[in-house]
Amino acid sequence: MPYLIDRAIPVGSFAGSGQPTLTVPGGALLRPWLISDAGAVTEAFRDPAIQRWHVRRADSVDEARGWIQEWQGSWGEESAGHWAVADADTGAPLGRMSLKAWNLTDGTADLAYWMMPAARGGGICPRAAEALANWALDEAGFHRLELQHSTANEASCRVALKAGFEGEGVRRGAALHADGWHDMHLHARVRQG
Ligand SMILES: CC(C)(COP(=O)(O)OP(=O)(O)OC[C@H]1O[C@@H](n2cnc3c(N)ncnc32)[C@H](O)[C@@H]1OP(=O)(O)O)[C@@H](O)C(=O)NCCC(=O)NCCS
Repeated sequence: MPYLIDRAIPVGSFAGSGQPTLTVPGGALLRPWLISDAGAVTEAFRDPAIQRWHVRRADSVDEARGWIQEWQGSWGEESAGHWAVADADTGAPLGRMSLKAWNLTDGTADLAYWMMPAARGGGICPRAAEALANWALDEAGFHRLELQHSTANEASCRVALKAGFEGEGVRRGAALHADGWHDMHLHARVRQG
């Protein structure tokens, strides 16, 4: 059955080109993950806050290497894009910024992030989220980006609002965490024009 609309983003738009590195104002960048980041990812997932909100832990550096391989492969599959938030001078990973669940027909994706404990508190996360959203909406062709956080995660709500993701309501009992079901606050940014 033929579609009556064109896809918002043609299939093949990403697979044929490399994943870009993006500048984050204030001394950081978003770059593709490297296998050599596996130690930092393992360390990040020892943090209780990352475990709490991302409901995973990494039991070994080998396991983190496997995740990074999946994150790298998702670009060519056009299913997701995963970036390390990195120090612009040293390239050292400071956090993660991902656009997941790509739907190229509707031009939608979901934003997710964490920062390593030592890199928190300096406003890098909202600037990185805004930079990635700007690229996705203004250059990559996405139409709408969603972001969800537990209503108990106030820091994430601040990041969302500072990155331009307006609140759209609460999805009740929408995500299972270690302590039970959480209501999830939905935010979104929609391309203007
Ligand atoms: C959420 C997270 C990515 C934010 O990164 P960050 O570096 O702390 O971000 P910022 O320093 O820019 O702070 C963001 C805002 O949250 C506020 N904030 C930070 N921690 C907070 C807390 N525990 N409670 C309430 N507000 C908090 C800050 O004051 C700031 O608000 P302001 O700019 O209005 O002053 C980081 O805390 C983190 O990695 N947490 C664990 C994983 C996680 O929650 N991921 C998101 C899942 S949806």
